[in-house]
Amino acid sequence: MRVFATGASGHIGSAVVPELIRAGHDVVGLARSDEAAAAVRAMGAEARHGNLTDLDGLREAARDADAIVHLGFQHEGIASGRFAEVTAQDEEVVHAICGELVDTGKAFLGIGMGRVEDLVNHPNPRAKVALAIHGYTQRGVRTVLVAVPNVTHSERDRSGFIPQYVRIARQAGVAGYVGDGANTWAAGHTLDVARVWALAVAKAPAGSQVTGATEAGVPVRTIAESVARHLGIEAVSMSAEQAAEHFKAFPFIGIDVRMPNEATRELLGWEPTHPTLLADLDAGFYFSR
Ligand SMILES: NC(=O)c1ccc[n+]([C@@H]2O[C@H](COP(=O)([O-])OP(=O)(O)OC[C@H]3O[C@@H](n4cnc5c(N)ncnc54)[C@H](OP(=O)(O)O)[C@@H]3O)[C@@H](O)[C@H]2O)c1
Repeated sequence: MRVFATGASGHIGSAVVPELIRAGHDVVGLARSDEAAAAVRAMGAEARHGNLTDLDGLREAARDADAIVHLGFQHEGIASGRFAEVTAQDEEVVHAICGELVDTGKAFLGIGMGRVEDLVNHPNPRAKVALAIHGYTQRGVRTVLVAVPNVTHSERDRSGFIPQYVRIARQAGVAGYVGDGANTWAAGHTLDVARVWALAVAKAPAGSQVTGATEAGVPVRTIAESVARHLGIEAVSMSAEQAAEHFKAFPFIGIDVRMPNEATRELLGWEPTHPTLLADLDAGFYFSR
């Protein structure tokens, strides 16, 4: 298949593209800079210069492809307080691309957030984007929602949950968690997550909802204790109010995420093979940079 990938130069995209090429696909990666284009070509894909804000360019790329893997997201908008705006733009991207795929049976793979039936009126605006994608299933598009674990970990992870958490713990001299720290984060190694995307391109039926999580939910206290041990500091329980103040720039410490993967393993014949989150923490790279 000819696969058009947005976000091809990103953390997850740069793991997905080689998987797709290994599986025999021709991959075209969206690149908004010469640097991103060089990274895309270095993986053996074709670079298509463009931007997520250029909807006509995306429509044209979609017409030329058999499958679209949508991993691009304007994360810098989150840091600058424009989360709702960039998420609304993401929804426009979905409609621009999927609008070209109506009644073609071509595949569109985008970011899922758990079961679609739980997403109506969800507080996270990205749920609306997932619903928009799923809506094209009835319009002749092979939609697939891939729920990416909130902790996608590996040496390639430079700005995910763990690097942010380690930075705050190091600066504060304590590794905090909320209450008893029993809330959990879903985790998956970048390369296992990438494999799910590639398998889903090949064989997920229309309307599928799959996950790249290899660990459904790791207790945040367990993560805090590992980080504390590696940094030589204490793991400390905080009230929700203390945590809101302590983790100001990282308002995710108390979220409770579980992503069971049995159905995905069954559907795709996926066997995760890469290290667990605690093994990656023990490998040390999160603390040596
Ligand atoms: N990593 C995680 O732990 C995690 C967890 C849950 C969900 N997700 C979701 O998974 C998806 C991929 O995440 P990621 O970690 O791979 O993100 P990432 O490393 O930030 O990559 C984002 C990609 O989007 C591209 N991009 C951003 N703005 C663009 C624009 N205006 N025009 C064209 N391309 C643009 C970036 O290009 P440049 O290379 O030029 O910057 C990059 O290729 C995102 O939707 C993310 O929210 C990630």
